[in-house]
Amino acid sequence: MQILLALASLSGNTREVARAVRARCEAAGHALTWLETDIQSLAEVAPDPRRYDLFLLGSWTDNAGRTPAEMKRFIAELVAAMGKPPRVAVFGTGETQWGEEYFCGAVQRIATFFNSPFPRLSIEQMPHGVRDALAITTWTDKVLADCKKLSHADHHRHVA
Ligand SMILES: Cc1cc2nc3c(=O)[nH]c(=O)nc-3n(C[C@H](O)[C@H](O)[C@H](O)COP(=O)(O)O)c2cc1C
Repeated sequence: MQILLALASLSGNTREVARAVRARCEAAGHALTWLETDIQSLAEVAPDPRRYDLFLLGSWTDNAGRTPAEMKRFIAELVAAMGKPPRVAVFGTGETQWGEEYFCGAVQRIATFFNSPFPRLSIEQMPHGVRDALAITTWTDKVLADCKKLSHADHHRHVA
């Protein structure tokens, strides 16, 4: 599959998760385009976003569970270019010390906005240890497997 991974990371936690997700996707034989929303635009990196089978969006969470401005900008650009893609999976990092109800709020908000059919991945701060590594690989494998199933279902709907 062709995958676009777009991320917003201020201090590197989400970038660490994104690197592990990218490694897993590439190990499974998928082609992945990497986009950092604070310094790159969709037009620069992926001028034809319709060619992607899957969008992976990774984000830190800003004040009171909000989506950071750079990720909002990217989402606005994506939706302007092609509407809401059907296959968007969301991951991110946050901190429970900002309040349980706000923990990784951006992950929830973005997934809800896109009506994401995939599970969400929320990691506390910098990923570390076997547990986080396993959570990341398990989530990535599940998203890739679900995406394949959804693509087949779409294909059968089109030819039916
Ligand atoms: C101003 C500010 C507000 C934050 N608010 C929240 C929040 O509401 N919920 C949350 O889960 N994390 C919150 N965080 C924590 C970050 O999302 C968390 O440290 C994250 O791992 C940073 O990711 P990054 O290293 O990729 O930038 C906040 C951080 C900052 C700087």
